[in-house]
Amino acid sequence: MQVFYDYNSFSNYINTQKKQGKSIGFAPTMGALHEGHISLYQEARKENDIVVSSIFVNPTQFNNPEDLEKYPRTIEDDIKKLENSNLVDAVYIPRVEDIYPNGMERKSYNFGGIENEMEGAARPGHFDGVGTVVEELFRQVQPDNAYFGEKDFQQLKIIEKLVEVLDLKIKIHGVKIHREHNGLAMSSRNMRLSETEKETSSIIYKTLKQVNDWTKTLSISDIKEKVENIFCQGEMALEYFMIADEETLKEVDSLSENKNYRAFIVVNVGSVRLIDNLHLD
Ligand code: PAF
Repeated sequence: MQVFYDYNSFSNYINTQKKQGKSIGFAPTMGALHEGHISLYQEARKENDIVVSSIFVNPTQFNNPEDLEKYPRTIEDDIKKLENSNLVDAVYIPRVEDIYPNGMERKSYNFGGIENEMEGAARPGHFDGVGTVVEELFRQVQPDNAYFGEKDFQQLKIIEKLVEVLDLKIKIHGVKIHREHNGLAMSSRNMRLSETEKETSSIIYKTLKQVNDWTKTLSISDIKEKVENIFCQGEMALEYFMIADEETLKEVDSLSENKNYRAFIVVNVGSVRLIDNLHLD
């Protein structure tokens, strides 16, 4: 596996691969790698000649400076994990100036409204920051296929839209959520949870599965009340819960046939913000 720490050396590598007609699969990350990331590389390995990953903690997508500061940075460990996975050909670890040569500004995008729902409403500017870094990484990596986890389902939809709006010839693949043995969705932020908090956080996925069952018999307002009751005591603070249309990401108050819906939840465990979702069947 080759490791590149700047744009010049990385672009030489990528241009050589492109000249040789190699297909490129790409999974961008912010590091603190876990099994969820590995599952992105496994998917990428199935259908590309070259698998590339990047590690870059992108300042412009953090609306909360404390969150940016506390985001885990474990580069040495990440490189070892990537080596050991045997799935990745190259990892690109750009410097801030490689991504933001003209200063750290986020662009402003119109993603047709989905950017204003859920995480967009809770974290102003977040998806402009994600769009800015992913657009630049796509320009530098020139992938044929790119892989994103469904844990950040709204982000996945935003990236699909980004590719459409910019008319990029990149196929976007969503990869199923990878979970701990107790159901907790894998996330780099889980590193900041104690063992006890990790165990109690399993209630998030249990609740989502119950929601799926409740949709067969209960109204959405009753379901919301039940979810709020689950989180009203204890250490975990429910930030939001909603059932939304998978296409528009707009919250719904009733379900209709022939549409796809997903339950979305955000819970704060101390200062750790956990996010999860489940497709409703
Ligand atoms: O999902 C992430 O880790 C980040 O939002 C991404 C896509 C790497 C952009 O910084």
